[in-house]
Amino acid sequence: MSKIQKIKGFSDLFTPESTVHTHMENLARETFGAYGCREIRVPILEKTELFARSIGEETDVVQKEMYTFADRKGRSLTMRPEATAGVLRAFIEAGAPSDGVTKLFACGPMFRYERPQKGRLRQFHQLDVEILGTNAPQADAEAVLMLWTFLSRLGLKGLELELNSLGCPKCRPVFHQRLRDFLASVETSALCEDCSRRAVSNPLRVLDCKVPACRTLTKDAPRIVDALCPECAEHFGQVRRILDSAGLSYRLNDRLVRGLDYYQRTTFEVVSGEIGAQTAVAGGGRYDGLIRQLGGPDLPGIGFACGMERLALLCGEIRVSDPDFYMAVLDDQALNTALLLAQRLRERGFSGEVSFDVRSVKSQMRQANKLGVKTCLLLGQDEMDKGLIVVKDMATGAQKSVAQDDIEQALGFRGR
Ligand code: HAM
Repeated sequence: MSKIQKIKGFSDLFTPESTVHTHMENLARETFGAYGCREIRVPILEKTELFARSIGEETDVVQKEMYTFADRKGRSLTMRPEATAGVLRAFIEAGAPSDGVTKLFACGPMFRYERPQKGRLRQFHQLDVEILGTNAPQADAEAVLMLWTFLSRLGLKGLELELNSLGCPKCRPVFHQRLRDFLASVETSALCEDCSRRAVSNPLRVLDCKVPACRTLTKDAPRIVDALCPECAEHFGQVRRILDSAGLSYRLNDRLVRGLDYYQRTTFEVVSGEIGAQTAVAGGGRYDGLIRQLGGPDLPGIGFACGMERLALLCGEIRVSDPDFYMAVLDDQALNTALLLAQRLRERGFSGEVSFDVRSVKSQMRQANKLGVKTCLLLGQDEMDKGLIVVKDMATGAQKSVAQDDIEQALGFRGR
């Protein structure tokens, strides 16, 4: 029989990668929790309409990248390509409190049918934060500072923060028109296939195309910052002033339009030059009309998501503490006692493993060394008869027999 292989672009995570992921998740919970975020877990499957309505029909994500299928009743379902839409749906269904601010944290796997390459997978994981119910520029600044604090605590260096404002429904149409007029004046047939289409359907996206020919053709394109209405300009100015006062450096990037259509006003990305072609490790922005668009109250919101696989490329290995003991078993008669002694030690706060079969002392010592334990416990018939166990210091090789009742003291009792 041929072996079953995994789906292309869907990665398995063994240690040490899984340890890095666990560390990132825990650090995210702790860091975002300190800002008042509470964790929400939303389904991986949602109705397709949710993503089409929020992310935007014209986006690459909706047009080409969603894992969509009909269920047994013919309903169109999609495996979430991002977390924001599901979190907002859940928030609305839970009653969407219109007083005060709600801060939510979500994490887990997302799915996009993209061409797999370094840092770009078809199943990847995000750490996602949404701040709902405020349009204060302070919330935008807090979102950026929260993200930056997390990345700093992760110990990542050499990252760059990019910032832009995309305006609001008042000033965006004016800019769209200027951009369309500009695009009408260039040789659109020289644009890449995607941009020729977007020039009509979604002109903003032409601005962040990475194809050199498109870059050259659009180098004199109008800039959105020049088209912001006074309210948006003031809002963005405030966000920038707070970030300046916090000493956070950033680069203004007026081509940062993001790949999802729900953004308004502040948008941001954190990029790294060290992980190949896919440079964005995190991205987000404000989406003030989205909750209402999804059938909820007219509440504003802002959020961001970090790509865990891309962050993992930048993180070194995470050291986990070594287990306290390995229990080697030298006689069949000792197997059950060894298991029960090991169980007692774990109940008292120690960590370690016990052999399930009798192998040579040499091979069991090899196993103890592989696990990195400081102490190996050896149990054979002789020890069983006397109620003893051998305690071996793996660093010095010194060993002594102690009463089975006293193993905790020999390991350094922690009194749990
Ligand atoms: P996004 O920019 O599409 O935003 O994704 C956020 C991050 O997820 C990216 O910066 C990247 O690190 C990672 N990512 C995206 N696609 C892939 C992939 N195929 N393979 C590996 N990593 C990937 C969002 O998803 C928004 N929902 C963020 C947000 C939350 N905006 C407001 N709230």
